[in-house]
Amino acid sequence: MPDPTTGDRFDPTDPAFLHDPYPTYARLRREAPLAWYAPWSAWIVTRHADVDALLRDRRLGRVMPERPKEADPTHAPFAAIQAGSLLEIEPPDHTRVKQAVHDVFTPKHVRALQGRIEALVAGLLDGLEARSEREADLLVDFAEPIPVTVIADLLGVPDADRGALLPWSKAIIGMFEPERTAAMEAVAVAAAAEFADYVRHLMEAKRRAPGEDLISRMVAMRDADGARLSEGEVVANAILFLNAGHEAVVNVVGNGLLALLRHPDQLARLRADAGLLRPAIEEMMRFEGPLQFFERTVLEDLTFGGIAWPRGTKLVLYYAAANRDPDVFEDPDRFDVGRHPNPHLAFGLGLHYCIGAPLARLELGVAIGGLLRRFPELRLVGPEPTFVPKNVFRYLTALQVAY
Ligand code: HEM
Repeated sequence: MPDPTTGDRFDPTDPAFLHDPYPTYARLRREAPLAWYAPWSAWIVTRHADVDALLRDRRLGRVMPERPKEADPTHAPFAAIQAGSLLEIEPPDHTRVKQAVHDVFTPKHVRALQGRIEALVAGLLDGLEARSEREADLLVDFAEPIPVTVIADLLGVPDADRGALLPWSKAIIGMFEPERTAAMEAVAVAAAAEFADYVRHLMEAKRRAPGEDLISRMVAMRDADGARLSEGEVVANAILFLNAGHEAVVNVVGNGLLALLRHPDQLARLRADAGLLRPAIEEMMRFEGPLQFFERTVLEDLTFGGIAWPRGTKLVLYYAAANRDPDVFEDPDRFDVGRHPNPHLAFGLGLHYCIGAPLARLELGVAIGGLLRRFPELRLVGPEPTFVPKNVFRYLTALQVAY
């Protein structure tokens, strides 16, 4: 029987852990794969087989229906943008809301965006090429504009308003960090209120002058039949799509390019064989995923791995630890652009599996393929890149390169 607490194996406030969490994950997987961590009042789950099984288990959900996640009344604007968001609801509401939007994100619909994404990436590469100094921060100058533009186009956010999306999203994701401060909460709540106000105004504009975009479509559905989609659900999901639609893609480009540039043999392999682009992108998501874990709540009493979990038990499912599990991935700490098979969990699994996965894969292929083709001399410069010290979201402060 494994030790059922994390003991001295896990300290999510330790800068060394936040810098490189993988040795800690390895130890937990080996010694305490299901481990109680009292400060978060949650079980930490790190093995691939367990995370996989729990994500498929319908006795778990994102949130207890009768107990809103944020009971603090000052958090009401944040709670409002979560209530009704696909990520925070369970069937039958999840089924109904997903049906309303899912065809926009199908591989077939997404493929139609390829030409526009290619043109966008080519324009950004032209901009980089035109610089006399031939140096850039790839996060700001390349990675960020791609998914922000694509998702804003899809939702119908006017060009002039797009600048606010990144700061709102960065503020809001602070609320998902278990080690957040009161100041981070206040910033997240204020951003949620502003973002929701903005989306409501945009919905009014779409009512007057509808377009082909997803917000116009959700507004039309809501106005035709409020039982199909409510006003609050339109706001919550517009915000979810705008945030989820760019944040992780930006950081797969950043984290993935860092891995590639730190492994010149793998970079050379990829440059020599364009057929490796797809597996390379999957490996980037496995090796240095931008989302380390997601939480689940036990909705019905259950026993798992010999441990009784009553209704209401909180679980922290470490997708990033599962993605380095040697029981599933041979030599898991090796970055291998040809890795096959690669059943990583970076997009989750089961009911809440990422609806944007086909879009993300398309954007990543066009962006990374285009960048490598355009700049054969691409290399890291400046100080060693550092990760922002956060627990859920893993991303770089900057990615300075010369080309
Ligand atoms: C490489 C980039 C991306 C990664 C790594 C990623 C990862 C994830 C993960 C792990 C989940 C499941 C969360 C859970 O298990 O609780 C998820 C859900 C979701 N993602 Fe993504 N995502 C990415 C890109 C996108 C894009 C481009 C969109 C575009 C709209 C998107 C929209 C969503 C939505 C709406 C959900 C909730 C689905 C549901 O609950 O049914 N994601 N994503």
